Amino acid sequence: MGIDISRESKSEKLQKVSQYIDKVLSLVEKEQITKEEAEWITKETVDGFREYVNPGFLEYRKTVTEGGQFAAVEWSDNGACFKDVNGKEYIDCLGGFGIYNVGHRNPKVVKAVTDQLKRQALHSQDLLDPLRAMLAKILADITPGDLKYAFFTNSGTESVEAALKLAKMYSERTTFISTTRAFHGKSLGSLSGTAKGMFRKPFLPLIPGFRHVPFGDIDMMRKTFETCSLVGEDVAAVILEPIQGEGGIILPPEGYLRQVRELCDQFGALLIFDEVQTGMGRTGKMFAAELFDVVPDIICLAKAFGGGVMPAGAVVAKEEVFKSWFPNPFMHTTTFGGNPLACAAAIATIGVLIEENLPERSAVVGEYFLEELKKAAQGHDDKVQEIRGKGLMIGIEFHKDEIGYEVSKGMFDRGVLVAGTLINSKTIRIEPALTISYEEVDKVVSIFKQVLEQVKEV
Ligand SMILES: Cc1ncc(COP(=O)(O)O)c(C=O)c1O
Repeated sequence: MGIDISRESKSEKLQKVSQYIDKVLSLVEKEQITKEEAEWITKETVDGFREYVNPGFLEYRKTVTEGGQFAAVEWSDNGACFKDVNGKEYIDCLGGFGIYNVGHRNPKVVKAVTDQLKRQALHSQDLLDPLRAMLAKILADITPGDLKYAFFTNSGTESVEAALKLAKMYSERTTFISTTRAFHGKSLGSLSGTAKGMFRKPFLPLIPGFRHVPFGDIDMMRKTFETCSLVGEDVAAVILEPIQGEGGIILPPEGYLRQVRELCDQFGALLIFDEVQTGMGRTGKMFAAELFDVVPDIICLAKAFGGGVMPAGAVVAKEEVFKSWFPNPFMHTTTFGGNPLACAAAIATIGVLIEENLPERSAVVGEYFLEELKKAAQGHDDKVQEIRGKGLMIGIEFHKDEIGYEVSKGMFDRGVLVAGTLINSKTIRIEPALTISYEEVDKVVSIFKQVLEQVKEV
């Protein structure tokens, strides 16, 4: 009897789950939602985050708009903008921290993915999948110098993991040099290269062999190379973001990357460029490596690589290095990396970047944006410390975290999303779609100016 009751209650529960799923899918299917539906979605989302995702998100996300009535829950996107469930539009200057280079749901990327989806979604894992080969060939053509062979991943951290393992296998060495303020991801290998103590400390010890030197300090880099060599811990690779993103849009000093390249050559180490954020046209060139005329041995890509539609990443390496994986291509694998949908998205994304000259557009619009932001900040030296960047990768550094938070919150209330959270707002980042219009740029600048005038010194 008892067993029957529990069975019944389980089936009732499943029935409720089924009804809930039907409701969710019916909402996903809708182009327009009603006010009541928007309210239901908002409540379910906020309750769901509190009860089942992580209540911590509600603490620091910009969940409440001005007036405090509505939690900001996103629902749809297009071009350089997205809308919340209540239909309020935001210019997306956070850009998913550099995902939306070709805009939100770029029609050519969406078409490529849906066309592929109609025929085959994922690969058999055993036969040869054509789009992987074609995308690898395209990458060999567009990446700097003689970078040639590609391994595909699903995210930035996976691209970094692959690069580190490839460097170890090629060099038979275990020492890596990374830099302060670097961000390479949060899985254990990439976290070893990441610099922020707060993210690393609870997980120590990480992968042995990592040393961090100040970004931009070539003497320290040289001394570290020399020391490693003296103590018999020769360097496998240096891993660097050509322009640091998470660290606060930090540009390298003149000649730095070239000098790092020379040190790597001198000590027989590889140079890994983590272009997860700077790649795919963000900084005014297809890859930031081109800005500095330096060719790495391995380049890591992700974020915008999937065109803001599919999660996708890659490492591309010189043949000499990559050939360590020729004898056994299963030395490093991932089930979904290089799947047909991701490859279709990446191929279409590269197509759009080339056809629409988006890297060049990023350089031109970025320069305009940077200058206008600087003008808007005139007279606010007490709040704004520096505005810097390259292409459409711009950072606004404030004197204090609190000012950055107030500015990003104020801009959000007025319909502009910028990167900056309660835990890290000293430098807010502007990384919009490379397709952003001049009108949209002007609107962002004017809102920035208004907000800056209203924010009291904290
Ligand atoms: C330079 C860089 N590398 C790696 C990563 C990690 O990428 P993901 O979050 O996709 O793992 C990021 C993410 O911000 C990044 O900016």
